[in-house]
Amino acid sequence: MDRIAPLDKISLVSEYSFDFLGHRGNRQSTMVSAYKQYITERTNKEMIESDKGFIVYSITPNAIYVEDVWVAPAHRRNGVASKFGKMIEEIALERGLHIMLSSVDPRAKNATESLKFILEYGCKLDSCTENFILLKKEI
Ligand SMILES: CC(C)(COP(=O)(O)OP(=O)(O)OC[C@H]1O[C@@H](n2cnc3c(N)ncnc32)[C@H](O)[C@@H]1OP(=O)(O)O)[C@@H](O)C(=O)NCCC(=O)NCCS
Repeated sequence: MDRIAPLDKISLVSEYSFDFLGHRGNRQSTMVSAYKQYITERTNKEMIESDKGFIVYSITPNAIYVEDVWVAPAHRRNGVASKFGKMIEEIALERGLHIMLSSVDPRAKNATESLKFILEYGCKLDSCTENFILLKKEI
């Protein structure tokens, strides 16, 4: 993957504050990161978010598992999701993990596009059932 957005092109949401419509500004309210607050409070998952999208992941004993990745339509095909992937690969390596797992439910909307991205990112098919495709990448 040679076209990955450089780190300086991804602004982490925590660097900014947003108004209730999501516009960048100086207000204290941070509605944009409400989903991250929810993830942190209600699940064992972790999340990195920027002004362009987010990745949600969890740490298992043997692997880092990509729960979800989403990029705002206006910013797609610019390497943003690939950059999120690289960011959590670094987190995995720091924790001594060398396997990245990702999955797709083939019944989900636009599952073909999701799968194309995951395969292009470098994951390979691990296993498959009628409603769950597991992909794996050694890192
Ligand atoms: C899938 C998604 C995360 C990709 O984000 P992105 O930032 O556009 O991905 P990247 O720019 O890093 O794409 C890297 C490569 O993956 C492939 N790819 C990405 N989106 C693709 C699509 N819709 N169709 C086919 N291939 C695609 C391409 O090969 C792309 O390289 P290229 O643009 O040079 O051709 C984004 O489209 C999205 O948020 N979709 C809705 C949510 C979703 O499907 N999440 C995935 C769940 S696992």
